[in-house]
Amino acid sequence: MSAESGSSYQKNGGGVELLNAPKLTHGTAYTLAERAALGLEGLIPPSVENIERQADRVRQQLGSKPDDLERYIYLNQLADTNETLFYHVVMADPAYFLPILYDPTVGYACLKFGHLYRRPRGMYISLQHKGRIRQVLSNWPVKDVRVICVSTGGRILGLGDLGANGMGIPIGKLQLYTACAAVPQDALLPILLDCGTENQGLLADPLYLGLRQRRPADDEMTGFVDEFVEAVQNVFPSCCIHFEDWRGTDAVRFLARYQNQVSCFNDDIQGTGSVVVGGLFNALQIKKERFRDQTVLFFGAGSAGLGNARMIVEAMKLDGLSNEEARGRIWMFDINGLLETSRTDLSPEQQLYVHPHAPSKDLLAVVEFVKPTILIGVSTVGQSFTQPVIEAMARANDRPIIFALSNPTEKAECTPDQAYRWTRGKALYAAGVQFPPVTYNGKTFLPGQANNFYVYPAVGLAVWATNTRRVTDEMFITAARAVASQVTDEQRGLGLLFPLQKDVLEAEVRTAGAVATVIFDRGLARVERPRDVDPWLRGLLYRPEYVPVR
Ligand code: NAI
Repeated sequence: MSAESGSSYQKNGGGVELLNAPKLTHGTAYTLAERAALGLEGLIPPSVENIERQADRVRQQLGSKPDDLERYIYLNQLADTNETLFYHVVMADPAYFLPILYDPTVGYACLKFGHLYRRPRGMYISLQHKGRIRQVLSNWPVKDVRVICVSTGGRILGLGDLGANGMGIPIGKLQLYTACAAVPQDALLPILLDCGTENQGLLADPLYLGLRQRRPADDEMTGFVDEFVEAVQNVFPSCCIHFEDWRGTDAVRFLARYQNQVSCFNDDIQGTGSVVVGGLFNALQIKKERFRDQTVLFFGAGSAGLGNARMIVEAMKLDGLSNEEARGRIWMFDINGLLETSRTDLSPEQQLYVHPHAPSKDLLAVVEFVKPTILIGVSTVGQSFTQPVIEAMARANDRPIIFALSNPTEKAECTPDQAYRWTRGKALYAAGVQFPPVTYNGKTFLPGQANNFYVYPAVGLAVWATNTRRVTDEMFITAARAVASQVTDEQRGLGLLFPLQKDVLEAEVRTAGAVATVIFDRGLARVERPRDVDPWLRGLLYRPEYVPVR
């Protein structure tokens, strides 16, 4: 809390309002002098606590909750009442809190969003606001918004179309900007772009909070999103738009439409691609192999699959291959089978990866034919990497690389336990969620979490600090390298492909420094280049501490 805001409450005699202001309150941590000066005497119990004591109470209350969903609800209520304390608790132990605030719990919270709803957070821009989105956006009280995270709820994790229930995702994603990369919350705005839903269960649910209509045709959707993107440029001219969890086809086409026009990125495409390439840098280092020599098979060819493919192509090009050669090393499989030349149902982005091959819906047969060195699951289909599929990978490779990235937990294409057992401990494995360590044959493996939270908060920190004009693929490749470089040899020996979650803040700040340097090098920053990027960035970080009132 700033001294100024404290004094203004004092002048207005509004002690209660101050106490109830989530961004300002210190709760029981006000000193006796502050209580007297701010008109708070008698409004708080007599004991004067510090933030550590308050945090102890939070942890104790969390401990009595029966499950992570209840902990998620409790934590979000804390964020609504005392934001500083919320971030103080979360930033002290990110490894514990990430799975509660984010994957997988946020997915379960989205499924029940209308039932768990307490109070509004962020903004809901709906088709009803067509023609006046600019005016509606102006209702947001903060004027210098630097990053908007926006979802249509079109494809929430692997849970499908959740319509307005998807709001849990932009809220959670932006909480992680602060929790993992110390970006101040005031700069961030979660938005749910409500375009209806195809989810009949939600449309029939009396407690559903979104528009009760089906999604519009592509043309109408394009006009609506165009208006939204333009309105953001007008109302928040320094703002970057982070697209998250849109329907796969929308994710791909809207990124292509806006990426060279405005400051924006799609986390499912670029963030996931970046974190996967980061994990692959480490896996290949363990195998002492090069990117250019890999053959990759994707199970799932939606926004995550295409985003990963795009980044892997970039990494292969940096390793000396041409565009054509790199794409030729990537195979894809979707709900209708292998992407091959006779398919007529493919988008232009999917057509880049077709191969001359007979039609096939048999993943095992394709694995045996292609002999991929890397198998990546982004299909939303849990347990689709069966024992025969994994064993075929192990026959073709001494150390098969197997990433089962679908979320939440039960959607993972295989578990680490299965991957290590079926390859006799040879797999280099990562999942989208954090699985516990696995012991096989007396050896303990640490399965990595290939989750874009290693990348997007760092990119967000760099974007916020530099006020960049554009976000480019080069920034995501840079982030991939920076994340990968923070895993030690010893950790790689245990199969770890990503930094430990307990070190996430340090990892993100270093990664952000590398990304910010690219932004300055390319002349995209709208702030002056500091002499030394790293200390400059560290000096800007949010700290979850109360500022004494003078
Ligand atoms: P999407 O809906 O755009 O794509 C899903 C793809 O899987 C489509 O190509 C679809 O045809 C294919 N598919 C569906 N059923 C299939 C089946 N039975 N056999 C073969 N292919 C099938 O979804 P998106 O955005 O690509 O996400 C996919 C999954 O990846 C989700 O579970 C999501 O949570 C996860 N993901 C994980 C991330 C991470 O950081 N670990 C980041 C982004 C996504």
